[in-house]
Amino acid sequence: MKESLIYSVIFYFSQVVTGNTKKVTEKIAEGLRLGGHKCDLIRFTKYHTDLELIKGFPFEKYDLIGIGVPVYYFHPPYHILFELEHFPSLNGKKGFLFCTSGGNPGSTLYQMKKILDRTGLKMIDGYDKWIGWDVHQLYARQENSNGDYGWLPSSYGHPNEQELNQAKKFGKALINKTLDPKTSEKIDFWSQENESSKMWSWKGIQKWFPEFNLIREKCTQCGLCAQICPWDAIVLDPYPRWVKNCDKCYICHLKCPENAIDCDFKKQIDYLESIMNNGKKKNLI
Ligand SMILES: Cc1cc2nc3c(=O)[nH]c(=O)nc-3n(C[C@H](O)[C@H](O)[C@H](O)COP(=O)(O)O)c2cc1C
Ligand code: SF4
Ligand code: SF4
Repeated sequence: MKESLIYSVIFYFSQVVTGNTKKVTEKIAEGLRLGGHKCDLIRFTKYHTDLELIKGFPFEKYDLIGIGVPVYYFHPPYHILFELEHFPSLNGKKGFLFCTSGGNPGSTLYQMKKILDRTGLKMIDGYDKWIGWDVHQLYARQENSNGDYGWLPSSYGHPNEQELNQAKKFGKALINKTLDPKTSEKIDFWSQENESSKMWSWKGIQKWFPEFNLIREKCTQCGLCAQICPWDAIVLDPYPRWVKNCDKCYICHLKCPENAIDCDFKKQIDYLESIMNNGKKKNLI
């Protein structure tokens, strides 16, 4: 290690609507830079661009490699999970994982760790309890919805100041853990596959979530949906067409300035409400 200064890099993904993971990542980096240590931030944006980046990335420069993601359906976003398969051998390097979620991270870190085990990265820490404002359309009928889309009331205002301070402390603590040769590998990578994460498998989300219907009369062909899609799943032809399976993040739907993308979430919202109501009846919620 160069003059006991550590050089770290954090790869992260954070959707353009909320940016929760970005906020947490920047705070972890602040902690990691204390005392003159260096930390670079790399934001993942789109599947194919990210793969190119990973292919040419100078991993050898770094002592510590972090990866942060939002939780999508109890998993890491699938495009990120598939990208992790392309990380090269990282023998001799230390690593850490984290995520932000609306409150239920499911088996997100477990799945990332499982895929990265192949690289030899020694995972020294991880954290999956940071909350981020959750604007998924499944909460569209919540009382505080603005009408276009809903949000989960319990996640509103997160990550808050306390969580961001905690993220900075987490970063600071990583410095000693990296410098100490006796730091052991973290193996309790947290909850394993549960029923919900099994149901929302890659195939499961394709089947269960609604299709995209373009309202041509409203669409101005501005291209924003295609530009922000992390999967490059939308092509302009000259109107947008959805050409492949994707993360089902519905960011294209949320961000369209003309509300030209119609997705019918009624079935999914009804299902979610029935689970919530059953939970309330049994005093589980
Ligand atoms: C497609 C999608 C699926 C989500 N699934 C979950 C989930 O299973 N559990 C959860 O607690 N939060 C879930 N969330 C909420 C996000 O994990 C949370 O808002 C996160 O902080 C977003 O991070 P970002 O702003 O960095 O993208 C989901 C959000 C989206 C958009
Ligand atoms: S963002 Fe909306 S208006 Fe722009 S091309 Fe996509 S669907 Fe059309
Ligand atoms: S939901 Fe829309 S933005 Fe998200 S991955 Fe699918 S096509 Fe792309």
